[in-house]
Order: sequence, then structure tokens, then C-alpha cells
Amino acid sequence: MKLNRIKLLFCVCFSLFLASCGVGERIHTVKSPDGKIDLIAGVDEGRPYYEVKRGEEAVIAKSHLGFQLKDGDFSNNFKIKAVRQASHDETWQQPWGEDIEVRNNYNELTLLVEEQSDLHRELSLVFRVFNDGVGFRYVFPKQRNLKDFVIMDEKTEFALPWDAQVWSIPTNGTKYFEALYKASPVSHKDTVSTPITMMANDSLYLTLHEANLTDYAGLNLALEKGTKTTLQAALTPWSTGEKVFASAPFASPWRTIIIGHKPGDLMLSRLMLNLNEPSKIKDTSWIEPGRYVGIWWGMHMEKYTWSQGPKHGATTANTMRYIDFAAKHGFSGVLVEGWNWGWDGDWTTHGDQFSFTRSYPDFDLKRVSEYARSKGVRLIGHHETGGAALNYEAQLDSAYALYRSVGVNVVKTGYVNPLLDNKEQHNSQYGVRHYRKVIETAARYGIMIDNHEPSMPTGLQRTYPNLMTQEGVRGQEYDAWSTDGGNPPDHTCIIPFTRGLAGPMDFTPGTFKFVNTVHPGTRVQTTLAKQLALNVVLFSPLQMASDMIENYENQPAFSFITSCPTTWAKTVVPDAKIGEYVVVARKDRRSDNWFIGCITNEKERTITLSLGFLDDDASYKATLYCDGEGADYLSNPYAVNISEREVNAKTVLQLKLKRGGGAAIRIEKI
Ligand code: NOJ
Repeated sequence: MKLNRIKLLFCVCFSLFLASCGVGERIHTVKSPDGKIDLIAGVDEGRPYYEVKRGEEAVIAKSHLGFQLKDGDFSNNFKIKAVRQASHDETWQQPWGEDIEVRNNYNELTLLVEEQSDLHRELSLVFRVFNDGVGFRYVFPKQRNLKDFVIMDEKTEFALPWDAQVWSIPTNGTKYFEALYKASPVSHKDTVSTPITMMANDSLYLTLHEANLTDYAGLNLALEKGTKTTLQAALTPWSTGEKVFASAPFASPWRTIIIGHKPGDLMLSRLMLNLNEPSKIKDTSWIEPGRYVGIWWGMHMEKYTWSQGPKHGATTANTMRYIDFAAKHGFSGVLVEGWNWGWDGDWTTHGDQFSFTRSYPDFDLKRVSEYARSKGVRLIGHHETGGAALNYEAQLDSAYALYRSVGVNVVKTGYVNPLLDNKEQHNSQYGVRHYRKVIETAARYGIMIDNHEPSMPTGLQRTYPNLMTQEGVRGQEYDAWSTDGGNPPDHTCIIPFTRGLAGPMDFTPGTFKFVNTVHPGTRVQTTLAKQLALNVVLFSPLQMASDMIENYENQPAFSFITSCPTTWAKTVVPDAKIGEYVVVARKDRRSDNWFIGCITNEKERTITLSLGFLDDDASYKATLYCDGEGADYLSNPYAVNISEREVNAKTVLQLKLKRGGGAAIRIEKI
């Protein structure tokens, strides 16, 4: 981000009260800037702990902190050595995102604790308390008796004061985080991957996750033995069992607790982004959000193949056809999968044979990219690695240099293999290091990344805004070939409050033909209007209209997708109930227009929507794409009713959503 675009409103108040030995047993507290959330921290019988309250309400009960290191326990026998408090208030701007301005306002408490042994090893516990939650991290200062060390376990606890309803996906047995989130009491959960979201009561919603996952292992949570509602960190291990190899000075990722009164508060929290470092990319002018089509759904529906042969999808001629379509309808890019050598045979087991610079004979990269440029469209590059991370790393420079030379500035990466390099998990420190190397190298070549099969996102797009979007979610492709029938209607009413809180999701909505001749039992389980609405509800700065282009011909509803931006000036969530329905309204960055997405699960319902977020004293033209008469996601999914009416800030709409349905609305200022 350009420095001159960062608006530093206030970043002064920095009070330091260093206390020497003796403050040890005192309880230390810090409040959120609005005074509503309290963080209490201290050391009790040698064990560091924290607690979170909202007013009189317990949010996190007394929870211990610390580590099991390879050479012994590092969670006990501590005494507080120093205490520091600070405050921070700044407003920064996102080059792309769900809003432009983000306020980063918190009060901070740091406890420096020292082991009461001859080694005198030290650890800092840093807590930041925002109006929308808490973040905390461990900092291992530079010190004589702790240099290189190995973390065998992080012992961070989240002691929940209730057996709340939790939406989560299991860590074990889930590939690439592509699972359906299930709600059940926390006491029933096996190890789960963060983010997890819970409803403690009607006005207390929490999300636990992490921010700034750098050179560390990804976070999972498991019930602590002998407890019913205390979750403990369960880091993803290396194949050899260690969790993290580190050298002091060293900082862990932030552990995050978003606290909201209603589900929409979770979606509007920018706490995770605030706990990441500011952009390392000074000039972000080349980073361009956009909407694209792709030679993609055709492969998933087995009309085309990635590999060579009579059905090869990525041919020069077919790509030019897609480019013509993209140019005609105002798309910024065309994704081409299967253009490079390595797809023949079972590519998921021989990823090391992928070449990222050699084209198949029927694909002329130079010609196709020149053709795209002449039409004002860019190719979107693709690097499927089959999980062979080392093979990819060896080719990163040559592959990105090639793409740059032909004007490709977005690359979708993929890692279809449960293990990287047949050995290490995607969310392990090994995986985290690999994905970081890719993002940093891409940034040097002026390339944006769409990372499929990633480690779980943690807000790194603030630091590397070329990290546009990621998978790590069960996306629309499951409606092509999954063995369980496709994504159930409530899936998209849950993920905005779970995986969506970890960052942009490359879900790829926008399928218009739901018939599936290859896997007849599997299908898109929405109405057509809901496919449109998902373009607003599910945020991604790069968004693919997923269907084959011929399925968009002569479809009046397609005009919603082609008009819908992918980056926003402002977002509001007028109404939502996790798993039941979601209403999101977003304001365009380039105009005064608003776009609304409204979706329901398998139940029909009427949503009363006040347009109070529009400018007062202004008139707007609303174009409504609603479920038509008799629409139903199973029996009549295509019925769409497109209508226009004048609206203003006083208008209250009654939106009738059919089963599995939705409504998409474009509101243009007159
Ligand atoms: C899985 C990805 O999610 C999908 O989008 C892609 O088409 C295939 N891998 C092939 O890379």
C-alpha cells in the first residue's frame, strides 16, 4: 500500500509502566477502547493465564498459557518480571476489500514473565483488546538460555464457560479444509480446525482463529483431557511429530477471539486484518480485483479434459472463444487450466512431472495472450502442483518470468494431494513456509495469487495484498462431482460466519445449468437467484463465474453477475442467522451503487429489509432478481423474476425467498 494513502489518525498514547520483580502476583487488566470488554491476565502458582469478560458476562474463563518444548515444560514456574500497557488508534486503507477504511484501535497489555530456575528463561505475553474482541500472542525475546528451540505443543487454553453450539469442521479426515461445517455442543467435538464460531446465547457470538500465521504451524483446537468445555491448541505437526522449529527472538501468530452481539458483527470484524503487518508492497497499483470466466467447469463436468486428447479443454481455439466471450461481457480475465505439460495420467500422484513453462502442442501461450490483450482481457494463469511443492519451488522464477513476459498477472495455484511432497501436511510449518515463499516470489514478479488447497488463511492479504483469494473451503465444484449430492442449501448460510472470517473465499458461484449428466445424483442445490446473490454474500476480490460460457447465452439473469463489482467501499449485514439466512449489502468503490445478496437455506422465508443504509435524500433505481413464482431449489430452480422500482433510504422491501433461494439486488443512484 502506498504510504501516502495510509491515513494515520492517531497513534500516540504509549504509556509504559515498567515494574520490576514484585508485581508478580498482581492481577493485570486491560479494557477495550469502548470499555465493554475486559482482559484479565496474570500468573497463578507459576502458571500464566488470561480471562475475558464482556461487562459482567464471562466470555473466556481462566485459561492457561504456555508451551511444551522439546527440552521441557515451558508453561510453569513463572513470575511476572515486567508489565507494560499501550494504546493504539489508527485508520488504514485497504487496496481492495469489503470496505476501504479499517480502524485499528486497541489497548495493549504485555506481561514479561521469567522462569524461576537457574536458566531465567523469559516469555512475553502480548494482549490486544479491541471493541470487537481480543488477540494475543507469545513473544520469545532474545536471551542467553533460549536460542534455537522446538515446540512440541502449544498449551494455550480457551476455557469456555458454557457448552455452546459450535460450527466447525473436523481436522482429522478432512482434506484441504473442504468439509461441511456442523453445529454441535463444544463437549461433543473432536479436534477441529479454526476458525470455529459459537453461539453462547442470543447476544453472544464468538469466533476463535488466528492471525498472521508466519513460520509456525496452523492452529486446531481439541477438548482438553478431563474437561468438557476447555479447548486447547493442537498445532498441525511435521511428519516427525514436532510442531514448530524456531529461534529467539520469535513471535507466534496471534490467537484471536472475535466477540459479537449478532452474527453480522462477526462478518464486520476486521480484528484479524488489524493483527497482521501493514503492506510490504509499496506500490499496489498493479493489484487489480476482477471477475473472470474459465475453462474450468467443463473439466469438472467431464466435457473437457485437463490432459491431452480429443477432449482437451485448453486449446488455442477454445481459449480464444472464451476470450471473445469475456471481452463481450466485460470480464477482466479468462482462466486456463490444463495448458502445460504434466496432466496426462494420474497427475495427483506425479506432481513432480508438471512443467510450468512448457505448453501442450495445441496451446500457443504467446498467441493466446496477445489475442487476449488485443481484446482488453488477460489470461489467468494456472499452476497445479499435485502437492509437489519442491518441484514448484524449483520453477517459481522461470514460471513467473514466463507469465510476466506474456502479460499474465494472476496465477491460480493448486495442491491436490493430501500431503505436500508426499510427506508434510498443508497446514504444518512446512506448508506455511512453502505458501509464503510462493506469495513473496509472486509479489516480486508483480503476480497476484489465488491459492487453492492452501494452509488456512489468517489475514496475510494485509501484508501481501497480491494474495487475493484462497480456497480452503468446500466450493461450488462439489456440485459437479461430490458423492453426497452437492452442497446442501445451508452450507452457504454457514461459511460466511466460519471459513469466510479467515479471508476471501474462492467458492466460484454463478453456475446457471444445474443438470448433471455425469453424476446424476449430484447437483447445484440452489435456485438461480441464489447463485446471483452468492456473488455479494461470499466475498472474493477475484471472482469466477463458474459455468461454461455457452450456459450464460441468452440468460437475462447473467446481467447481475456482469454488473457486480468484486471489491467494495463499505459492507453492512442488515440481518443474518447462522445456517438459516444471510443478508449482505455492499457499496461499490467506483460509484454510489449498492449490491445486495440475500440467501436462505432449504426453508422459504420472507425477509423484511430496510434500505436505511442508502444516502438520505437520494433516489435510486433498484433492479431486483428474485425467486420467481413457484421457484424451488429441487423442483423448479430456474424461475427468476427480474423487476425494477424506485427506492430510497426509507424503503422497506419484503423479499420472498423460496426454498434454497435468494434475491440479488442492484441499486443505482439516480
Ligand atoms: C482443485 C481445484 O479446487 C480446482 O479448482 C481445479 O480445477 C483442480 N484442482 C485442478 O487443478
